Amino acid sequence: MKQLFLFSIFFFSLETDAFNQQAEVLYKTYCGGCHGARLEGNSAPALIKTKWTHGSTEKAIFKSIKSGIPNTEMKGWGNVLKDNQINTLVNYIKASQKGPPKAAASIPSKIVTQDYVLKVEKIDSGHTSTPWGIEFVNAKLALISEKPGKLKWLVNGKLDTVSITGLPATHTKSSTGGFMDIALDPKYQDNGWVYLAYSHTNGDLQDRNAPGMTKIVRGKIKDHQWKDQQTLFEVPDSLMVVRGDRWGCRFLFDKAGYLYFTIGDMGKAMPSQDLGKPTGKVFRINPDGSIPKDNPFINTPGALPAIFTLGNRNVEGIAEHPVTGAIWATEHGPRGGDELNILKKGANYGWPVISYGIDYSGSIVTEKLEQEGMEQPIVQWTPSIAVCPAAFVTSTLFAKWNNNLLVGALAFEELRRLVIVKDKVIRQEMILKGYGRVRDLKISPDGSLYVLLNKPDMILRITPQKPLKLK
Ligand code: HEC
Repeated sequence: MKQLFLFSIFFFSLETDAFNQQAEVLYKTYCGGCHGARLEGNSAPALIKTKWTHGSTEKAIFKSIKSGIPNTEMKGWGNVLKDNQINTLVNYIKASQKGPPKAAASIPSKIVTQDYVLKVEKIDSGHTSTPWGIEFVNAKLALISEKPGKLKWLVNGKLDTVSITGLPATHTKSSTGGFMDIALDPKYQDNGWVYLAYSHTNGDLQDRNAPGMTKIVRGKIKDHQWKDQQTLFEVPDSLMVVRGDRWGCRFLFDKAGYLYFTIGDMGKAMPSQDLGKPTGKVFRINPDGSIPKDNPFINTPGALPAIFTLGNRNVEGIAEHPVTGAIWATEHGPRGGDELNILKKGANYGWPVISYGIDYSGSIVTEKLEQEGMEQPIVQWTPSIAVCPAAFVTSTLFAKWNNNLLVGALAFEELRRLVIVKDKVIRQEMILKGYGRVRDLKISPDGSLYVLLNKPDMILRITPQKPLKLK
């Protein structure tokens, strides 16, 4: 009798587990994009709350879901979901009202977007630690940088377990420092050059107060050995920063073959306006580190000649528009005021003289939103989503998304698709929300979308399962 009793408890908990999983998958697939992966609300109101606009009874919630709410984004799901699926969702929403909000969000294998049903695969994710940048040699071979100071090959969807040795030591004791982006030379197949950005100090690597600055090098990887390293950009000790935070750094090779890289303000706002200081800038160099003859400040006394733009708080996403060739960049604001900009040679993006954000402490950085001689963003996000990577879509698999800009966010754990018409963002669609900090995005040569997540650390491969049929 006792055994039977225990057995039925065991069986019952198995059943509820299966129910919860099924409900969570349903919810994340159809609802999480707007209402938040943890029902915390996003573009649509939270679904964990005490005040319901359209009724809190099971019957009322069922009706909201099945019939929708007229004249709002909340369409009726009656022609997509069966009644028992809607009931599952009602129970899931009801059950979520109790207890603490969910922490870890597991990624569904399928996500419905406006144009595609997406298939989401987790690639060998147990073996990566804070992946930061990914670059493809070809569809089957990619290189990944990891913040703690490693590079790893991704071969046929598996992370190579043999480590790459001889890499530069990086200053990880100072706040957000470590290895950042990587890039492959446009002629990588011939010359093998790999570009690496990392937090550098000439001082003691164990000393949090050792002055540091982002450094750019290139080297070649042969038989898991980093070789032939050349320094492309570094500053003297006098320009380094103690306990700096916001080192950048993203790379972009444009079609003309120039290499762009970014350095954040390192927590010292005002030097972003100083052409003699490396912080708060975007730079442009030739692949060998020499300065392009038409760089904007090459003849300005005291200016660092590699500077391309100034007043950029921390650019962590940079991409070239496939049609116009314009360079677009995403920039972390303070609290509020994340920006999307088009980078113009020699232009000043205003930080910290103008900003839509306020400081983390809540104090005002500046009252000014605009000033003559300073650029306005194409988009500003307040509150800050903590915008990070940016990639334009050029893919035969995602034909409907071509020339759209994908941007990722750290704090808000988002992947958004931005539809651009004539240099204006006319629409933003939430693709991922709440699955982890979106650190990097790349379209693979086979057209699939790769996403690097931090917390949890993961590599995702996303492909359209099928185009969504419009009824
Ligand atoms: C495209 C965005 C979007 C999606 C996807 C979406 N909703 Fe909504 N939903 C909304 C918006 C916006 C509202 C608020 C409408 C209003 O009252 O103004 C809403 C309202 C609701 C409400 C009523 C809340 C209240 O306060 O009474 C419920 C319940 C709800 N949604 C459940 C769901 C479920 C379950 C799903 C998935 C099957 C879903 N929604 C998918 C946008 C969305």
